[in-house]
Amino acid sequence: MSFSVDFLNENLNMVNKFLKMNKPIEEINEDLKKETNINHFFRSKVELYEFRDYLLGLTNKKKKEITLNQDLGDFQTPLDFTYKICQYLQNQNLNPEFLLEPTCGEGNFVISALKIFPDLKKVFCIDLQPKYEWEFKLNIIKLRSEREFQAEINFYRLNIFSSEFSNIFKKFEKYTKKEFLVIGNPPWITNTELSKLNSSNLPEKSNFKGLKGLNALTGKSNFDIAEYIMINLLQNLIKSRLSGKIAFLLKDTVIKKLLIENHRNSLKLSKNHALEANFQKIFHIHANGSLFIANFGESSENTCKKLSFHEKTKNPHYEMFGWVNNKFVSNIENYTKYKWLEGKSPKIWRQGVKHDLSKVMVLYYDQKGILLNGNGEKVDIESKFLYPFLKSSDLQVKIAQKSRFELIITQHKLGQDTKLLEEKAPNLWGYLNQNLDKFNARKSKIYNNKPLFSIFGIGDYTFKPYKIGVSGFYKKLNFCLIKPQDDKPVILDDTSYFLFFEKLMDAFFTWIFLNFPDIKEFLSSLVFVNAKRPYTKEVLMRLNYAKLIEKCTFSNFKSFYHENLEGELKMQFNEGDFNTFKSELKKSDN
Ligand SMILES: C[S@@+](CC[C@H](N)C(=O)[O-])C[C@H]1O[C@@H](n2cnc3c(N)ncnc32)[C@H](O)[C@@H]1O
Repeated sequence: MSFSVDFLNENLNMVNKFLKMNKPIEEINEDLKKETNINHFFRSKVELYEFRDYLLGLTNKKKKEITLNQDLGDFQTPLDFTYKICQYLQNQNLNPEFLLEPTCGEGNFVISALKIFPDLKKVFCIDLQPKYEWEFKLNIIKLRSEREFQAEINFYRLNIFSSEFSNIFKKFEKYTKKEFLVIGNPPWITNTELSKLNSSNLPEKSNFKGLKGLNALTGKSNFDIAEYIMINLLQNLIKSRLSGKIAFLLKDTVIKKLLIENHRNSLKLSKNHALEANFQKIFHIHANGSLFIANFGESSENTCKKLSFHEKTKNPHYEMFGWVNNKFVSNIENYTKYKWLEGKSPKIWRQGVKHDLSKVMVLYYDQKGILLNGNGEKVDIESKFLYPFLKSSDLQVKIAQKSRFELIITQHKLGQDTKLLEEKAPNLWGYLNQNLDKFNARKSKIYNNKPLFSIFGIGDYTFKPYKIGVSGFYKKLNFCLIKPQDDKPVILDDTSYFLFFEKLMDAFFTWIFLNFPDIKEFLSSLVFVNAKRPYTKEVLMRLNYAKLIEKCTFSNFKSFYHENLEGELKMQFNEGDFNTFKSELKKSDN
C-alpha cells in the first residue's frame, strides 16, 4: 500500500514526540492502543527508533521501493484480491470473531477482514520481517483513521518455524468453539530453491523430522515450505482444540499434499474446496494455485471440490478430487467409471536412461555428417557404443520418427565395470576421460562410489528392440510405438517411461490397446496435469490394461484399429495372432 507524505509525516511527528517525552514504553503503548487498537505497539524503546527509521526511509524515497526477499517466498496478495476473498467468505455466511494470519506481510488480508467482518473481536498476525511489521501497523493506523472497528490487533514478529509460534496457540485455548478464521498466503518456495539461496528460512531439522505427520515429507527431496507450514499450523490448531475455517492461497500441488496428509494423519479438515484462481494474472508468477477453503477442527473429509474462484454462476460446475477406497485420484466421477482398470500393470514400466551429462553424452550429426557433442565439439568414438536416442519431446507422435540424437552407453547393466571400455573402445575411453571432471561434478549422490562414467536406468530391458514410450512431463498423454533404428534398439531419456517387447506383434497389440479411450480416461482420472511430472511410474503401474484386453473381442479390436490407427501403422494380423497375444499375456499374468 502506498501512504501519502502527510500521513507519513504525521506518524513521524508522533514517534518523535514519544521519543522526546521519554515516557515509559507501557504508557506509550496504552496511548497507542486507544488510537489504533493495536496491543503492545512497541516491545521496547529500540523499536521506537526502528519505526522512526522505517518512516524516514519511506519519506525519503519519492516512490516507495519494496525489496522482495526471494528466500521468504514473498508475494504480497493485492488488496483488491484479499477483499474479494473476504467477500466470498462473507457470502458463505462466515462471520468470524477471531482471526489468525500466520504470515501476514503488509496485512492486506487483515485490512480486508476488518472491513468486511463486523463481529471480529481479536486479530492475531505474524511475520518475520521488521519492514512488514511497520507497514502492517501503518496500514492499521490508516484504516482506523477511515473507519471504526472494534477488533483488538496483536502482531508477533517471529519465525513460524520457532517454538514461539506454537506458544501463541496457548493463548487461543480459551476461544475454543468460537468462530475462528485462519487466513493467508504462506511463502511460495521449495526447500531446494531455498538451499540454492543458502537460506536459513527452514524448519529446524530436529523439529522438522520429529513433527508428527511430516514423515511423508522428510523422505522426499523436494517439498514446498507452504506444505510444512500448513501441516504444522493445522496440528497446532488441533492441539488447541479450536474449530473454524481456513482460507489460504496455495499451489495446487500443496492442496493435493494436504488432502493426502489429511487421510494419512487426520488434520481434521472437512468441507474442502479448492477455488482455482488466475495466479499468473494476480501475482505475475507461473504457478497453478487456488484458494483453499475448509473447516478445521471437526472431522476429516478426504475429498475436495474443485471450482473456479472467478466463475460467478449460481450452481457452478465442479469436479471432486481426493480419496476413493484408499486410492488418491484427481477426478472422482471419472475414476468411478473407469476404476475397473485399477490394478497392477501386466508388464513393468521402466524409466529411460539417467546420465545427468547431456553435453557430453548426447551427440548428433551435423549437416555434413560430422558427429558433435552438446558443446559443438567433434567426437570420434566407436559407433558400437552409440544408440539412437529419443527425448520426451520426441514421444508426442504415435510412431517414433528417426532419432535426432545418439546416446553414449557406457554400461549394459547397473554398476558394470566401465574399465573394460579402455580395451574395447579406446577412442570412447579417451573421450570420456577428457571429460572426467564433468562426470565427477555430477551432483546426484547416486553416482558416488560407482564405476567411472556410470549411468542409471540401464538393464537388459534397455536393449529390447520394441518399446512403447510415454513422456512423464507432458500434460497430454501419448503412447508412442518405437521400433529399432539402424538395427539398434532406441534408448529413451529419464523423463520418459516405456514398456519393452521382444516381438513387434506384441508391441503392436499392446500399443493399440493403450490407445483405447478408456485407458486415457482412467489415467487422467488419477493424475493432476499441472504437476511437474503428471505421469509417473507409480501411476502407469496402476493401469491393469489386461482387463481391457480380456474383455475386447477381435472384431471390436479390428474396427478400433481400422478407424483410428491404421493410418499410422499398417500391420497384417489375423484372429489367430490376436488370440495368441491374449493367451500369452494371460499366461505371463498367471
Ligand atoms: C507470500 S507472502 C504473503 C504475505 C501475506 N500473507 C499476503 O497474503 O499478502 C509470505 C510472507 O511470509 C513471511 N515469512 C516468510 N518466512 C517466514 C517465517 N519463517 N516466519 C514468519 N513469516 C515468514 C514473509 O515475510 C512474507 O510476508
